Amino acid sequence: MKIRKVVIPVAGWGTRSLPASKNIPKEMLPIYNKPVVQYVVEEAIRSGIKDVVFITNRDKSAIEDHFDYNHQLEAVLDRANKTELLGAVHAVAEMANIISIRQKKQLGLGHAVLMAKEVVRYDDAFGIMVGDDLIFGEDAGLVQLMKMTAETGLPSIGIMEVPDDKVNRYGIVAGEETSPGVYKVTDMVEKPEIGKAPKGSNLAIVGRYVLTPEIFDYLENATPGHGGEIQLTDALFSLAKDKGMLAVKMKGHRFDAGDWAEYLSANIYFALKDKAIRDGLHSRLTELLKKY
Ligand code: UTP
Repeated sequence: MKIRKVVIPVAGWGTRSLPASKNIPKEMLPIYNKPVVQYVVEEAIRSGIKDVVFITNRDKSAIEDHFDYNHQLEAVLDRANKTELLGAVHAVAEMANIISIRQKKQLGLGHAVLMAKEVVRYDDAFGIMVGDDLIFGEDAGLVQLMKMTAETGLPSIGIMEVPDDKVNRYGIVAGEETSPGVYKVTDMVEKPEIGKAPKGSNLAIVGRYVLTPEIFDYLENATPGHGGEIQLTDALFSLAKDKGMLAVKMKGHRFDAGDWAEYLSANIYFALKDKAIRDGLHSRLTELLKKY
């Protein structure tokens, strides 16, 4: 089974990130020195995928531009002998083949994925990565699902454990554990009330999926669910009941860049990994943490 493309929906309004995201797509906000979405595309590249399908809207062209050449800027950096920066800027334009599709109405994540139908419908399976969800670690994230679906032929989705009082923020999955960290999905509910998660589960769906094109039949027939949006979770559950689906615990660290505390933690995490600023940042943070 070949998985060649990844769909990255980036067309949402990003209300949780306002006012920062008023005129800048939330996926372009920086995490240390790179925009959020670059980390997501880099994970796709690490998984061996080069064809990236952005589901975008009229105000998000900065995202496509980021993955294109900026000849003027490159010429300036070249003249100034800023070789390292020139390399970094150039490399972003070379990293992926970008395909863009407009989602003209923001009707939800499920609807955003449906927009990719014509581009991926003839593929054996394709990836989906949510544009503000970051996963880091060796062999962590999309690649875990690609292996699982390639081995079993079944669609697979990424999950992680969340505290019981946070189940109402996620799609929650219940299932039978067939091997460590791998579950055969038996139930799925989008943002259940606290205490009402299926089978008391705290396994939350995170923004990584490897799906077969059958998902489009379910999305096309979907009716608006939670929040009046076409929910991917509802279509996933129908697909799981009819054909089977695996949920796989994601390794590594995960940050939801659409949430401020997580966004800021991701910034600190990446900055602390850079030797050039680690010590200064560390002592400044220690000072601040003593006071606040
Ligand atoms: P979110 O749940 O983060 O929604 O969507 P959002 O609208 O972007 O942000 P908030 O909740 O208002 O702050 C998850 C992903 O799905 C995309 C978003 O861009 C994000 O990457 N999405 C969501 C779409 O592409 N289209 C939609 O209609 C909704």
